[in-house]
Amino acid sequence: MVDAPYNSKVMDHFMNPRNVGEIEGADAIGEAGSPSCGDMTRLYLKIEDNRVVDVKFRTFGCGAAIASSSMFTEMIKGKTLEEVRAVTNRQVCEALGGLPTAKIHCSVMAEQAVKTALDNYASKQGG
Ligand code: FES
Repeated sequence: MVDAPYNSKVMDHFMNPRNVGEIEGADAIGEAGSPSCGDMTRLYLKIEDNRVVDVKFRTFGCGAAIASSSMFTEMIKGKTLEEVRAVTNRQVCEALGGLPTAKIHCSVMAEQAVKTALDNYASKQGG
């Protein structure tokens, strides 16, 4: 049997990612790429009353990137924009039960896409 590099929680979010897709008429969209591998993620947010009411993503990347994006969307849904901004890739890695060290950078992409989406939203609001 081959040793799996990922734990069962990561595998679950990789094989059955939550919140995959796009949001028509999204209030904010953020993109980020990983310079080390060329992968990318695009994130869509629906925002009402300063709160993320829906989130979807598309990630072209490895298992760790897809699992991180999936967990990120689960962790930010329903939160205020301030709370969303405070969620870090480290917290996402912890929620996933850990990633192999060489794969930690893959989780940064989702965090950057979220922050870019929030920045885009803020500039649209004139803030
Ligand atoms: Fe590219 Fe993981 S190797 S995001």
